[in-house]
Amino acid sequence: MKSHIQSLLEQTIESFKQQGILPADFEARIQVDRTKDKSHGDLATNLAMMLTKAAGKNPRELAQLIIDTLPASAYVAKVEIAGPGFINFFIDDSALANQLQAAISDEHLGIKLPRPQTIVVDYSSPNLAKEMHVGHLRSTIIGDSVVRTLEFLGHKVIRQNHVGDWGTQFGMLLAYMEELRAQNGEQAQLELSDLETFYRAAKLRFDESAEFATRARQLVVELQSGDEYCNKLWREFNDISLSHCHEVYERLGVSLTRADVHGESAYNADLEQVVKDLDAQGLLTQSNGAKVVFQEEFRNKEGEALPVIIQKADGGYLYATTDLAAMRYRSSVLKADRVLYFVDLRQALHFQQVFSLAKLAKFVRNDMSLEHLGFGTMNGEDGRPFKTRTGGVVKLVDLLDEANTRALELVRSKNPDMDEATLAEIARVVGISAVKYADLSKNRTSDYIFSFEQMLSFEGNTAPYLLYAYTRVAGIFKRATDIDLSQAKIVLEHEKEKDLGNKLAQFGEILSRVVDKGQPHVLCGYLYELAGAFSSFYEACPVLAADNDEQKHSRLLLSQLTANTLQKGLNLLGIETLERM
Ligand code: ARG
Repeated sequence: MKSHIQSLLEQTIESFKQQGILPADFEARIQVDRTKDKSHGDLATNLAMMLTKAAGKNPRELAQLIIDTLPASAYVAKVEIAGPGFINFFIDDSALANQLQAAISDEHLGIKLPRPQTIVVDYSSPNLAKEMHVGHLRSTIIGDSVVRTLEFLGHKVIRQNHVGDWGTQFGMLLAYMEELRAQNGEQAQLELSDLETFYRAAKLRFDESAEFATRARQLVVELQSGDEYCNKLWREFNDISLSHCHEVYERLGVSLTRADVHGESAYNADLEQVVKDLDAQGLLTQSNGAKVVFQEEFRNKEGEALPVIIQKADGGYLYATTDLAAMRYRSSVLKADRVLYFVDLRQALHFQQVFSLAKLAKFVRNDMSLEHLGFGTMNGEDGRPFKTRTGGVVKLVDLLDEANTRALELVRSKNPDMDEATLAEIARVVGISAVKYADLSKNRTSDYIFSFEQMLSFEGNTAPYLLYAYTRVAGIFKRATDIDLSQAKIVLEHEKEKDLGNKLAQFGEILSRVVDKGQPHVLCGYLYELAGAFSSFYEACPVLAADNDEQKHSRLLLSQLTANTLQKGLNLLGIETLERM
C-alpha cells in the first residue's frame, strides 16, 4: 500500500515537471509514513513541504495542487490536507480486503517483489584456530536471517563464510598436532575435540619450549611455500575445526553449508598481485620496512595519517590484503550488486579503510555497493563482555545446552502431563529460538545484555510469546477443519478487523527494511505488533461464534493470513514454529 501511494506521488511529480511547476532535473525524495492516529488516515506524506523551495509556492497551496494532480486509485478512499501541509491518505477498506484476499493463496503473501540483484553476504566467518565464540553468534544469526529474507524476495544470494584459516598461529597449532600424534594418536583426536583447550595447550608449549617454537615457525614457512606434508596437516586441522562450526550451525538451524566456506586462504594466490597492482598505481608507501597505503581521510585524533598495512617487512600479508583480494573476487567473478558484511562494529575503521581503498584502486566496480552492517557487543548481566564465571570465553555449545535445559524446565512446568519425547522436542525449539530471537530483536548496532530469564519469558517481545501466539492462531483452524473456505471473502467492518488488516498489509514494507538496512529487529517488532493486533481482534471479534457464516468465514481468512504471516516471518528469522507448546 505504501509503495502504491509512493508511485502515485512519483507520477504527480513527473506531471509537475512537465507542467513546469518543478524544474525538469528535480530529484524528489518521497517519504510516505504510517500515521499513528487513525483520524489522520492510514498514510501521510510531507511532500508538499519538501517541494516549497523548488516550486516557489506555499505548502498548503502545493498540497492542494498535489491532491488535484494525483492519479485516481481504487485503493484511496479519501485524501485530506492537514496542519501546515501534510497530506493524509485514507485507504479504501474493500480494496484492502481484496489485497489481503489475494495474499492468502500467494506464496509470497501478496508482496511485490523487487528487481532481483546478486548479493554476496559475508557472515559468521569465525577464526578456525579457535573455537567459535559468542561474537560469531551475532554475525551468524543476523546474517542468516537477512540471507533468508533476501532469498524470499527473489534475490540471488551468495553466502561467503570468510573463515580465518590462515596466519602464523597455525604454525603453533600444527606443531602441537604433530607432537601429540607422534606421542599418542588417540590423545590428539581427543584434544582436538575441544579447540579452546587445544589452543591453550599449544600456546603453553610454544612459550615453554624454544625447540617447539622453532618447529612452529618452520611449519609456517613450509605451509606458505606449499609443502605437501604441512598442507595436509593444515587441511586436517581446519577440517576438524570446521566440523565444530557446522555442528553449531546445524543446531541453530543456520543455512550455511561447507560449500559456502571461502576463507582467507582462498585468496593466497592473489595477494602478490594485489601488492603489485597497488604499487603500479603509485599507492604504496614504505613505512618501517612494511608496505602501506595512506589515504588522506583516515587520521587519528592527533591528526596523524592512519595507514592500511598491505605487507609486513617479513613479506607476510595481512587481514586487509585478503579483504582487498576478496572484494575484487566478489566484484569481478561473483558479479555482486551488493556485498554485505556482518561483522563486529569494532572493525568499522578496517572496513571504511579497505572499502575506500578498493574503490580508489579500482578493484571493484563503481556500481557495486559495499556495506559493513556492524553489530554491538553481547554482554553478560553485569554489563561487561560475556564471559564464563571464571572469566573464560563462553563456548557456543555450552550456551545452547543451557538454553535447552532451561527451556525444558519451563515447558515441563506448563505441561506437567506431557510425554518426555514431546517435551524434549518443544524445549529444543523454544531454547534455540529464544537465543536467536533475543539477538535478532535488538537493534543490530547496540550492545545488549544476554539474559536467559528475559529471553525465555512469555511476556513481551520474546520467542516464547510469539511461538505461543502462533499456536493460538493455528489452533483456531484445528477447531474448524470442516469449514469450506474456498468461496469465502474477507470483509473489513469492525475497527479491530481493519487494524489487523492494515498490519497484515505492511509485511512487504517491513521485509524491504530488513534487507535494505540489514535490520531483522524491524521484522521482530512487526511480528510482535501483529500478534498484538490479532489478540485485540480476537477479543473483540468472535471467530467461530460469529453472527453469521459470511462473518465467520471472513474472520477465519483473516486468522489464516495472520498465521501464514507469523509463520513466514518467524521462518525468515530462522525460527521454527510449533503446532503446540
Ligand atoms: N574472521 C574475522 C573475525 O573473526 C571476521 C571476518 C569477517 N569478514 C571479512 N571479510 N573480513 O573477526
